[in-house]
Amino acid sequence: MIILDGKAVSEKILNTIQKRVEKLQTVPHLAVILVGNDAASKIYVNNKKKAAEKVGIKSTIIEYDTSLTEEELLAKIKELNSDRNVTGILVQLPLPEHINKNNIITAISPKKDVDGFHPENCGKLLSGMEPYFYPATPQGILMLLDEYKIPIEGKNAVVIGRSNIVGKPMAQMLLKRNATVTMCHSYTQNLDEIIKTADIVISAAGKKIVRCKMVKKNSVVIDVGIFRDSNGKLTGDVDFDFVSPSCGFITPVPGGVGPMTIASLMYNASKVYL
Ligand code: GUN
Repeated sequence: MIILDGKAVSEKILNTIQKRVEKLQTVPHLAVILVGNDAASKIYVNNKKKAAEKVGIKSTIIEYDTSLTEEELLAKIKELNSDRNVTGILVQLPLPEHINKNNIITAISPKKDVDGFHPENCGKLLSGMEPYFYPATPQGILMLLDEYKIPIEGKNAVVIGRSNIVGKPMAQMLLKRNATVTMCHSYTQNLDEIIKTADIVISAAGKKIVRCKMVKKNSVVIDVGIFRDSNGKLTGDVDFDFVSPSCGFITPVPGGVGPMTIASLMYNASKVYL
């Protein structure tokens, strides 16, 4: 069993991005909008800022109180869309309930949508056209698999979770790489049986869901989940101790998908479409 070292691979990728950014005519500038006081979001946004600094991408965090209105946020996005000094815009999710997330995502220029969440970018991914940006987490997972030369073509991939951020784009990107993809979610019956058929398991459920001992021998297990257990310890969707002896490759939590997502986002932020 090999532990997929997302931390080490992300550092390697960040170094490559740094060299790429040095050669660019325009210094990329990522605007990150944070609304409200979500503690996890604050940490994520700070990690993005630190990574941007490391690779020579300018970043600005724009923070708002929870009382910000949807109209005010839309006005800010409009301003950033037309600001030629801003090359990427990211609105950290979740947003407060009174703000319609879909209206916000749709307002961002698809050419600055470093998250790849705009319907034009999602739609292009679905239709087999080239989006301006691929969502960071699934793209980071593919970068990790590629770094370890793990084959995807023709493999049975099981994706657990159907979010717009991870599950849905992950399934599309695996299809694009010629995997046979099964999507599972909270209503799926016989999840354990389905997991047993997988050469690649990608779990993004946000709860301890991959418990069975019986992952296929030598399979690849990617754990996107990150949360604290009842003892306050950081953990993921996969019961690492049960699952790891059977599989071929597995990501740790922390140090697996998390740092890859950041590196992948920096790859997106280093792309300039003006
Ligand atoms: N919240 C959790 N994951 C993400 C992400 O990938 N992008 C944004 N903008 N917000 C998130």
